[in-house]
Amino acid sequence: MTLIRDICEPDAAAWRRLWAAYNDFYETAVPIDVTELTLRRLLDPTSAMIGRIAEREGCIAGFSVSVLHESSWTSSPSCYLEDLFVDPTIRGAGVGRALVQDLVDLGRARGWARLYWHTQADNERARRLYDSFVEADTFVRYRVTL
Ligand SMILES: CC(C)(COP(=O)(O)OP(=O)(O)OC[C@H]1O[C@@H](n2cnc3c(N)ncnc32)[C@H](O)[C@@H]1OP(=O)(O)O)[C@@H](O)C(=O)NCCC(=O)NCCS
Repeated sequence: MTLIRDICEPDAAAWRRLWAAYNDFYETAVPIDVTELTLRRLLDPTSAMIGRIAEREGCIAGFSVSVLHESSWTSSPSCYLEDLFVDPTIRGAGVGRALVQDLVDLGRARGWARLYWHTQADNERARRLYDSFVEADTFVRYRVTL
């Protein structure tokens, strides 16, 4: 059984461990001060950031990080799923699916207009999961680093 719930203070060490593995997956290193700020925001109920934790047999198995924001196209907020990660030792057991479904369910319950996310075109494992929720659209991303 996978339980999905809000992140809370006692999850900090496990979240940092999974976040480091997520950084490794993307061959990047988010600076430690940014990582800590992100964690504080996830733990802050007034922040627009939403942190959800997947728990399986008492272990922290994965997380999602999302940001809720206003939109010029809708009166209700949109939710951007920014990060999704499952412990490599627990993959293929439905945890990733449960984390995405959790956001769909939360969004319906809270009246969000949209849930959306990006992924790399060649991330086949993630795309197989995502394609089962919705067909990808034709938008491409432009990003200016400032
Ligand atoms: C993508 C990721 C979150 C999926 O998590 P997961 O817990 O393994 O996913 P699930 O077990 O819920 O499987 C979901 C779907 O993925 C696909 N999948 C699962 N295991 C797979 C495997 N070994 N090979 C290919 N596809 C697989 C299947 O289509 C599966 O659907 P099913 O439930 O009908 O079998 C996880 O692989 C991960 O953390 N990857 C690294 C980080 C990443 O890519 N994050 C997303 C960036 S946008």
